[in-house]
Amino acid sequence: MSFHPIEQAQARLNRSELAVPGSQPNMFQKAAESDVDVIFLDLEDAVAPDEKAQARKNIIKALNEIDWGKKSMSVRINGLDTHYMYRDVVDVVEQAGERLDLIMIPKVGTAADVYAVDMMVTQIEDAKGYKKRIGFEHIIETALGMQNVAAIAGASKRNESLHFGVADYAASTRARTTVIGGVNEHYSVLTDPAADGSRQIHWGDMWHHALATMVVAARANGLRPIDGPFGNFQDPDGYKAAAYRAAVLGCEGKWAIHPSQIALANEVMSPSAAEVERAEKILKAMAEAEAAGKGAVSLDGRLIDYASIRQAEVLVQKARQIAA
Ligand code: GLV
Ligand code: MG
Repeated sequence: MSFHPIEQAQARLNRSELAVPGSQPNMFQKAAESDVDVIFLDLEDAVAPDEKAQARKNIIKALNEIDWGKKSMSVRINGLDTHYMYRDVVDVVEQAGERLDLIMIPKVGTAADVYAVDMMVTQIEDAKGYKKRIGFEHIIETALGMQNVAAIAGASKRNESLHFGVADYAASTRARTTVIGGVNEHYSVLTDPAADGSRQIHWGDMWHHALATMVVAARANGLRPIDGPFGNFQDPDGYKAAAYRAAVLGCEGKWAIHPSQIALANEVMSPSAAEVERAEKILKAMAEAEAAGKGAVSLDGRLIDYASIRQAEVLVQKARQIAA
């Protein structure tokens, strides 16, 4: 390991994260009763400009009055380039800061953006005498945010997670798509003609590089990488395929923009019984190898070594966190 220690952010189950518009209080109770790990009450893009002030009031009331159980509660504030943002922070943290676990900062572009919100939240928490510190979730969803992702990830002790906001990221990079997440038929490779002249198209994952870059920045700073929205809530298979791709790259969770996506995210982001069994088998085999003075052995015809222990521990620890 490097001499540079990586301090892990506050541990929190974050397999699924439900987006709930602050302007739709009729949805709050159902969200509170769902199986989701984290809920973010939205003041940003799901709320029209004329509804921002009322949405803020709805969120403050709901945080104080609804029984959200053990769920982690977040509020997505408006961007730092809007005149709504300061009042989002002041009103919500002053009036409902004790039940609030996280603030989600959209379109974060630089480390200074994080500093600015940190400064405001710190003043309010200190003035109110809150004991608990509110954490930050950052949506990486602009070209600027992606360019500065490492600096953003390391910008505050409040940072807990980075989220890939695929819709705004597509807009910011001027990607030629109008869908939210998923794949695109034009991002593909065409195989060379076979002997009979036939060719095949293989669709690629146009978000791979962005997501993988964000995962590295998150992990290098002890944060959770979380995959963002998948807009077609009538396509559970497409959602699961996207979630599995994210999980395989290292993401711990995925957004649900519809309640039907919660169970899909929880399923994909929980290690399967077979994966946990295999991980436990690796740990047992390596413990035996170590006792016999060996550093690497073969298990079921494959090499395993000390790196396998670290991989297996990730899965076993995640299974324990879910069971707790
Ligand atoms: C989320 O905010 C997104 O833009 O995808
Ligand atoms: Mg967005």
